[in-house]
Amino acid sequence: MNKESFGKDFKWGVSTAAFQIEGSHDTDGKGLSIWDVFTAQKSKIKGTQDARKACDFYNLYKTDINLIRSLNIPNFRFSISWPRLMPNGIGEVNQRGIDYYNRVIDFLLECGIEPWVTLYHWDLPYALELKGGWTNRDIVSWFEDYTELCARSFGDRVSNWMVMNEPSVFTGAGYFLGVHAPGKSGLTNYLKAVHHTTLVTAAAGRVLRNIVPHANIGTTFSCTHIEPASLRYRDQMAAHRVDALLNRTFIEPLIGMGYPQSDVPVLRKLDRYRSGNDDRDMVFDFDFIGLQCYTREIVKASVFTPYIHAALVKAERRNVDCTDMKWEVFPPSIYHILKKFGTYEKIRKIIITENGAAFPDKVVQGKVMDEQRTKYIQDHLLQVLKAKNEGVKVDGYFVWSLTDNFEWAEGYHPRFGLIYVDYDTQERIVKQSGLWLRDFLSEV
Ligand code: NOJ
Repeated sequence: MNKESFGKDFKWGVSTAAFQIEGSHDTDGKGLSIWDVFTAQKSKIKGTQDARKACDFYNLYKTDINLIRSLNIPNFRFSISWPRLMPNGIGEVNQRGIDYYNRVIDFLLECGIEPWVTLYHWDLPYALELKGGWTNRDIVSWFEDYTELCARSFGDRVSNWMVMNEPSVFTGAGYFLGVHAPGKSGLTNYLKAVHHTTLVTAAAGRVLRNIVPHANIGTTFSCTHIEPASLRYRDQMAAHRVDALLNRTFIEPLIGMGYPQSDVPVLRKLDRYRSGNDDRDMVFDFDFIGLQCYTREIVKASVFTPYIHAALVKAERRNVDCTDMKWEVFPPSIYHILKKFGTYEKIRKIIITENGAAFPDKVVQGKVMDEQRTKYIQDHLLQVLKAKNEGVKVDGYFVWSLTDNFEWAEGYHPRFGLIYVDYDTQERIVKQSGLWLRDFLSEV
């Protein structure tokens, strides 16, 4: 396998998110996000850590962008912090926030690196959460205004846009389980958040299309290959339900298939929150979709789990190789996922917008020898190539992540970076995986 086997138009990149790297949580007029408030609450985050400083990307963006260039990575995915641009989520615009992203974008372009912007990577303005956040249908127009501001401010230089990051995770963890910001739970909050997220995704796609007509517009999904724990019918049906819930709930309405309600009956309750032209308004013809795949899950039937009657068999209990997130290392998952999404005719193009792994990296004599991560990336790339060679329209691969960063409720312990960060000194050390990628991408 070499770079050329993927074709010359294949997009190679690295991904990040504002809240996980920027720090400067209250600098230059930024408003609070739900994650600023969530991390300030006791016992929500492992080790009571927060992201007030994170990787200090806000100040060190030139250092990090120079590192991207030194690793021969031509594309950089990052997200915009909504409350940095609009401290209250609506109304007043913070020019200093816009100036900051202009500096980042201009420096990327100066370095010959293509910017890929995600509009929403989970840091909702707290002021909007006070009005109900994703459970309030008004979020459709709030988000349209925010998208318009981004498109008008940056659309002259940014061609690649992603509306959402992993809707299934932020609605599930943030609005059903309450383990991510804003810490809401219960079926009603979850279903409202799901439906409004779907409406917003399509609406923001239309705003981008109108304002930046030639843009490459996408949105990203988390996805996991699901297998039943046994051949028993009830385990197979449980796996089918979990697959529909995790992998199909958000993509299918966007391409005109509606929610997978016959496979996940509890989603029928979504109908309470539908109105008027929603079926039509939920659809948008995206140029690409981003898939983010890390592992597989094994599922068994369970009468104890409400609504879905299925449970995951934890990887730790299965005696398999795991990452620091306790996620099984199973490279064929990305192949199966690509094949699965590749069968939807309405999907024009797929880009792997995240793949990577957390391992317990250590600095020894100034070096980080992360063989496991290097192998993880290589093995996943082989699976991507296999799917591509079998005809799946997969056109890019972005590693999660550039540097180690703030892993949400897990704090700083899981290290996902190609570059090690010493959080006390903000020193960066390129890991062996980063050097491998640099050499791989330099091949002619
Ligand atoms: C999914 C999310 O998009 C990202 O924020 C997170 O850090 C990685 N995957 C790893 O969990």
